[in-house]
Amino acid sequence: MKNGYERFLRPLLFCFNAETAHHLTLELLQKASHFDSALRLLRSFQPSSKPKTLFGLTFPNPIGLAAGLDKNGIALPAWAALGFGFIEIGTVTAKAQPGSPKPRIFRLPEQQALINRLGFNNDGADAIAERLCAVRKSGRWPTVPVGINIGKSGATSLEEATNDYLYSFRMLREFADYITLNISSPNTPGLRDLQEPEKLSQLLNAIGNEAGTGTAPKPLIVKISPDLSGAELTAILAVCEENGISGITATNTTLDHSSIPPQLDQAGGLSGAPLETKSTAFVREIAAQSTIPVIASGGIFHAQSAREKFRAGAALIQLYTGFVYRGPQLLREIMDKL
Ligand SMILES: Cc1cc2nc3c(=O)[nH]c(=O)nc-3n(C[C@H](O)[C@H](O)[C@H](O)COP(=O)(O)O)c2cc1C
Repeated sequence: MKNGYERFLRPLLFCFNAETAHHLTLELLQKASHFDSALRLLRSFQPSSKPKTLFGLTFPNPIGLAAGLDKNGIALPAWAALGFGFIEIGTVTAKAQPGSPKPRIFRLPEQQALINRLGFNNDGADAIAERLCAVRKSGRWPTVPVGINIGKSGATSLEEATNDYLYSFRMLREFADYITLNISSPNTPGLRDLQEPEKLSQLLNAIGNEAGTGTAPKPLIVKISPDLSGAELTAILAVCEENGISGITATNTTLDHSSIPPQLDQAGGLSGAPLETKSTAFVREIAAQSTIPVIASGGIFHAQSAREKFRAGAALIQLYTGFVYRGPQLLREIMDKL
């Protein structure tokens, strides 16, 4: 049976193209973030709480907002009010950038999927740090952990990538409970090359040196692609372990479009139901090979797919495409059946 969002709100939102619908939703949630009465209303969707401690942080429940839904961190209080147990904003890059030409997000309702080639459109680390500072001053900073996902600016060469990440890290670390290094989005040319052991080692070493300093060391998470071979995954896990990485997010979107009919296909990263099995297999493999905790992301649409991720070894999960199709009631559905 369809839930309230699927019956009433989704048909309205799906009248617009995917990016416009996304903007409308975010604008609404941004506005709601300023009003206690609106936040109270959003809290009516909250799932039951099941606290969990990881990375030295307390998560009221294990369901997080995946990176990309709120790239610029404009609606933190609203996401917390909806009941997310943690919120990951970004991907943020050192420089503000417009991203790829539009259209660049495509819905595939039959496949319960999305394809995007956004290319890290975001306001940049400076503006986002300023915004987060204002939220903190307003007293509306969420009580749930906030992660900040950082990536390489499109204009920065691969050789300069480490400095680019370092810039964002330094600007944003004071606002983050954890930092995710995104080295796996398929829409920034060359980004996935940072998954090569030597390059990854250099990046993790540089950021790790910074993360361990200061009064509050930051847990570092590495977000990986589902298109890695078994050998590549094993090599990445070894580098992550050597560098004391706190967690792995598995996985980002895939470039494997073999499940998509050619007439519906678009260039970009595929997310949602067609990614589920593959990303769950990655979670299982990481849990088998390593003790690094896994945040599972990919194709979670209902309690069953969430349960599969935990069975495969996930410590936490994140939602993106499932949230677009199933709405806020998905959180309660998952928590009621966990
Ligand atoms: C439109 C869109 C934008 C995304 N942007 C980002 C991003 O900026 N950074 C990132 O790490 N992941 C990004 N992702 C990937 C998601 O965070 C998630 O890892 C992936 O979509 C798999 O989960 P899902 O099947 O629940 O969507 C994006 C996904 C979508 C659909």
